[in-house]
Amino acid sequence: MGLKIAVLKECAAHEKRVSATPDSVKKYIAAGAIVQIETGAGDASYISDEQYKAAGAKIIKTVDEALKGAGIVLCVQFPKEASLKKIEKGALLIGLLSPFANKELLALCKKQNITAMAMEMVPRISRAQSMDALSSQSNLAGYKAVLDAAEYYPHAFPLMMTAAGTVAPAKVFVMGAGVAGLQAIATARRLGAIVSATDVRPAAKEQVESLSGKFVAVEDEEFKAAETSGGYAKEMSADYKKKQAALVAETIAKQDIIITTALIPGRPAPKLVDEDMIKSMRAGSVIVDMAVEAGGNVAFSKMGEIVEKHGVKIIGHANMPSRLAADSSALYAKNLLNLVNLLVKDGALAVDWEDDIVKGMSICKDGAWLKEEFGSTKAAAKPAAKKADVSSTKAAATTKSTAKKTSAAKIPAKKTATKKAPVKKAQVKKTTKKSDK
Ligand code: NAI
Repeated sequence: MGLKIAVLKECAAHEKRVSATPDSVKKYIAAGAIVQIETGAGDASYISDEQYKAAGAKIIKTVDEALKGAGIVLCVQFPKEASLKKIEKGALLIGLLSPFANKELLALCKKQNITAMAMEMVPRISRAQSMDALSSQSNLAGYKAVLDAAEYYPHAFPLMMTAAGTVAPAKVFVMGAGVAGLQAIATARRLGAIVSATDVRPAAKEQVESLSGKFVAVEDEEFKAAETSGGYAKEMSADYKKKQAALVAETIAKQDIIITTALIPGRPAPKLVDEDMIKSMRAGSVIVDMAVEAGGNVAFSKMGEIVEKHGVKIIGHANMPSRLAADSSALYAKNLLNLVNLLVKDGALAVDWEDDIVKGMSICKDGAWLKEEFGSTKAAAKPAAKKADVSSTKAAATTKSTAKKTSAAKIPAKKTATKKAPVKKAQVKKTTKKSDK
């Protein structure tokens, strides 16, 4: 009998994505697998049971039944505890497991002899690019962040010269020019904004400039040495932070829109925009804090809310990729398909546990930890670890450690910064409303 692959309906709040599409289902089946999909799994991504069925999947009424006999369980976020208990011993659970935030669930996986494989921990080597869910999801999130800003910004983005007068182009500052930031830059440019961006990684400068953004950073010796061998941001010295903050403050005062995406693997998101900076922006300006799930880059940002402070709207939408569920599901399902192709041969599991990709992402197997750091119950109780771990987007940034980055050119988005002339807000009010998802 062929390998069974279970696809679960997501149960986490704000989660609309699904881990398989009719296209990926067809390919699993062509490779000899049986695909068991929990009914309604694709609803929030506009994929019906009928479409899955037409692709050859079996639609299963309950999660417990969908899990029956499955050698691979695909998910976006961690399934509920009750579902974990129904996963077959020895099965592979593959998803954006947010390992630093979900140590208890990982401990349960270990206890149940489930092999937990975190998509966030796929090493960022060239061979794994097609499985890089952090990138596929961040890219869409960066695009969506700009549209969110445009929705709440009371002006147009492009320069418009009309008989009735001229509309000045919006000034957009992107903080953190990784995958999401670069896409935010590209999107804001396409909408006609004047874009600048900042990052602590020197490599980001060229990437920002290649997207016609202006790079804003204190480019001293520390900056030149700031990137880790894995290509990620390093924690900067207090002195550098002070100089950079002064430059950023000056820049922010001239901006209309700020998109923040800054994350540091394994640590809470750096605080980049404080109250004085917010005050310096003119009323009607908009800030989108894409790092809100990792503790936030912006003062006052709140996950799942839009906060107004000093006339500036601060958007803290949760789970940005999920807000473009149809595309984010399609890309994520493709990332999973590419990974599963590595794990399966002739319709049966054939995992090479020495493969760098498999090693990088596997947390526990056969009742033992493959990554000891997740075995510490002390660490499991630490909320600080949680902060650094974002389930939805790149959040997983936490353990990108081993990865080697590829050339900047292959990576879609970047950011840069500058700000706009300060026009004092009339009143200092703070209104909070639920953000739409
Ligand atoms: P991320 O999500 O970890 O962080 C977002 C950005 O914030 C990064 O560019 C980071 O340098 C920046 N940042 C951190 N602290 C900051 C601060 N205080 N001020 C301003 N910016 C700050 O980054 P992401 O998007 O995951 O990309 C990280 C790296 O991985 C990049 O070098 C990227 O080019 C590389 N990459 C490599 C891939 C591959 O080789 N397959 C795929 C995708 C990304």
